[in-house]
Amino acid sequence: MDAMRKPLIDHRSPEFHGLYQSVIEKAKYLFQTKNDVFILTCSGTGGVEAAICNTIQSGDKVIVPVLGVFSQRVSHAVKAYGGQSIEIRVELGKAPLPEQIQEVADREGTIKMIAVVCNETSTGVKVPDLAKMSKIAEEHDALIFADAISILGGDELPIDSWNIDLCVTASQKCVAAPPGLALISLSEKAWEAIRRNPRRPHYFDLVKYEEYLSERSETPFTPSLPIFYALDEALSMVQEEGLEKRFERHRRCSSALYSAAEEMGIQIFPEERFRSPTIIALKVPEGIEDKALRGAVWEEGVIIAGGMGKLRGSVVRIGSMGVVSRREVETTINALGNALTKLGKQVSVEKALSVAERALRS
Ligand SMILES: Cc1ncc(COP(=O)(O)O)c(C=O)c1O
Repeated sequence: MDAMRKPLIDHRSPEFHGLYQSVIEKAKYLFQTKNDVFILTCSGTGGVEAAICNTIQSGDKVIVPVLGVFSQRVSHAVKAYGGQSIEIRVELGKAPLPEQIQEVADREGTIKMIAVVCNETSTGVKVPDLAKMSKIAEEHDALIFADAISILGGDELPIDSWNIDLCVTASQKCVAAPPGLALISLSEKAWEAIRRNPRRPHYFDLVKYEEYLSERSETPFTPSLPIFYALDEALSMVQEEGLEKRFERHRRCSSALYSAAEEMGIQIFPEERFRSPTIIALKVPEGIEDKALRGAVWEEGVIIAGGMGKLRGSVVRIGSMGVVSRREVETTINALGNALTKLGKQVSVEKALSVAERALRS
């Protein structure tokens, strides 16, 4: 917030060149990559659109595991640009398995891309086998695209060692800056696909982004400067903490929230092996209305989200990413426990806090 109070500068000035270079360098650390990274002025969805519209040509086959609302949107984006989305339907609360993708890829023969939402924010599911999926893409000479919007910076996702061709995240999630910027990384193989594509988008033309960056250290269009300032600061904070420590903090905080919820008798929505370390999806306890629960938690000073799509009304979701520590975890457990008590459930907030404490220390 302080970073955003700086005076605005001309985005065609040497001052901006320095800022842009600084953000890009730090973003490469976040992505653990030597690949090109660009910052787009748009929300995360714009980044997803950029990944698709630059690479996908009419008729291209794209394998899309659909495990919730956000992966359904990826499939929609593929179709919007003339691609053939080969959807793999996954039961809500589960993640796609590499074998399922392998089978479809072998059956389809020529595929252009495997597009994976690696943390499905609508169901609280993390896809654990992204590296294996990347190998399948490689075997089929296809690209692998990762929508890592709600996980990059909160959990291990090394772009170079897992050979991820395109990866997108957004400023407002695990990086903990305000919303308004999308970050995208592109491998050489992704560039080859882009160069082969006869159709170029306008606002999201990544070739133009590359030319402007390499020739002038600028963006083709006006960047959202205040958010650039904030992202620069937020990425410095990521570096100061260090990725490993940051991942560990996310693991501990989510594990504390999961165990406290279970202690209070709340069921976790995803299957245990697929639980996300950044978004906690909980089943609304029987006999309680989802709106009443969220309302009572809100009265305790904490905001939690409702379910999306088919899970509306039956699931609530707790964001456990970015600025999350003992303080946020304990405040949330207190709020949830007090809300449940108010709504007539017998829970021991003290016991929940004590199991959370164990997880935070482990
Ligand atoms: C996995 C995933 N993909 C895409 C999006 C869309 O991002 P935005 O709302 O920034 O456009 C979100 C937002 O929550 C998300 O979690």
